Amino acid sequence: MAFKIGLLGLGTVGTGTAEILLSPSGRHPLLQEIQIKRVGVRSLNKSRKIELPPEMMTTELEAIVSDREIDIVVELIGGLEPARSLILKAIAAGKHVVTANKAVIARYGDEIYTAASAAKVYVLFEAAVGGGIPAIEPLKQSLGANRIQRVIGIVNGTTNYILTQMAAGGADFEEVLAEAQKLGYAEADPTTDVDGLDAADKIAILTSLAFGRRLNIEDVHCEGIRQVSTADINYAEKLGFAIKLLAISQRPSSDEPDKLQVRVHPTLVPKTHPLASINGVNNAILVEGEPIGQVMFFGPGAGAGPTASAVVSDIMNIVGVLKSSGKTETLDPLLSCSHQDYANVIPIEELGTRFYARFLTRDIPGVIGHLGTCFGKHQVSLESVVQIGFVRELAEIVVVTHDVREGNFRQAIEEISGLDAIDSIPSILRVL
Ligand SMILES: NC(=O)c1ccc[n+]([C@@H]2O[C@H](COP(=O)([O-])OP(=O)(O)OC[C@H]3O[C@@H](n4cnc5c(N)ncnc54)[C@H](OP(=O)(O)O)[C@@H]3O)[C@@H](O)[C@H]2O)c1
Repeated sequence: MAFKIGLLGLGTVGTGTAEILLSPSGRHPLLQEIQIKRVGVRSLNKSRKIELPPEMMTTELEAIVSDREIDIVVELIGGLEPARSLILKAIAAGKHVVTANKAVIARYGDEIYTAASAAKVYVLFEAAVGGGIPAIEPLKQSLGANRIQRVIGIVNGTTNYILTQMAAGGADFEEVLAEAQKLGYAEADPTTDVDGLDAADKIAILTSLAFGRRLNIEDVHCEGIRQVSTADINYAEKLGFAIKLLAISQRPSSDEPDKLQVRVHPTLVPKTHPLASINGVNNAILVEGEPIGQVMFFGPGAGAGPTASAVVSDIMNIVGVLKSSGKTETLDPLLSCSHQDYANVIPIEELGTRFYARFLTRDIPGVIGHLGTCFGKHQVSLESVVQIGFVRELAEIVVVTHDVREGNFRQAIEEISGLDAIDSIPSILRVL
């Protein structure tokens, strides 16, 4: 007896998924028992990369999620609606669900998992974070024995590509973004990627798995890469850092295990750190736990084949369970969601981190002294202060702090920006 799939979406990932399912030879034998029954799309007239029997295709997605013969609904249409409603309807109809939709899982995970637990069905989403990189299943299973302390990810290929190109060629953000759009690495509307929103969805999902807490997406502090200049990339390079958009989730103190810091922002990463060398559209997710130490997952974070590889592995996980037990009266706790409580996320002002700041100052004696005094007044100690050169007769000074409380640093910056000697503060970045 074959297990029947209802595929919602036949775009980039849907096509990649169908291609794997239609060509099982040389892959895991379980794939030979999986059959696509129906495929839902928006337009029946579009030319497709793969040919499917016309009777398999429909624009009636609701009919797929309620089809009695379908065991697993695979949602690959993207966006919030109708994806969310279709997932909920599939669950209500007793279907297991596989999705690559990080936006829906990050925002409606609570609603979806409450419904899935009640209906005793699985909702798996390996492809939602890191595309083809296995990260979700390792967090749920292979790393389950660890106390996770920190997860740091480069989880958005578009921004990583832009920052890599800016570092390699010296072109500025707008120029590289336009080139990325031409190459298909960035959307026509790049907001979700360049403003860090996509990475925020992904770190919300990783946080939930790593720390066993649900998360309100609004609690993720999120900054994108629009303000990163080639000047900063060059100075960072001279100081021994690469600039990366990092998504970070951590338990700042083992004494208060319920408190978490969750944030997305461009970060100076020491060149010796494994994440500093993740370039181009690649993604990487570094997990730190006790007793394992550090493990890093690296690979293609998007694309038809890699993402479909993750989608099909989820389908196979569900089929494996269905095949061995027949029913799912009790859900496997290693595959289902077992937590309901919400994370207590600490405000960004309480973050303890190093900072990099670049100042343009009038060339008058004692400027560096004034900066030092202001920082000192707010308990911000400095690791280095370097006068880099001159820009339009203004002296350019770069400061790197020791670990400081973000709130104190911001107060010092507010006071410094009022000093006569300060023309502007073009950039402030956190340092890993
Ligand atoms: N692309 C990647 O590399 C990647 C990586 C990781 C995760 N993901 C996630 O995977 C999901 C799918 O992405 P994708 O890149 O494959 O998207 P896509 O290429 O835009 O394909 C979307 C598919 O869904 C169909 N569709 C969209 N809205 C529909 C509606 N309202 N009713 C019926 N059909 C509808 C489209 O039909 P038509 O073909 O008729 O227009 C199309 O076949 C998204 O959640 C995305 O975030 C993608």
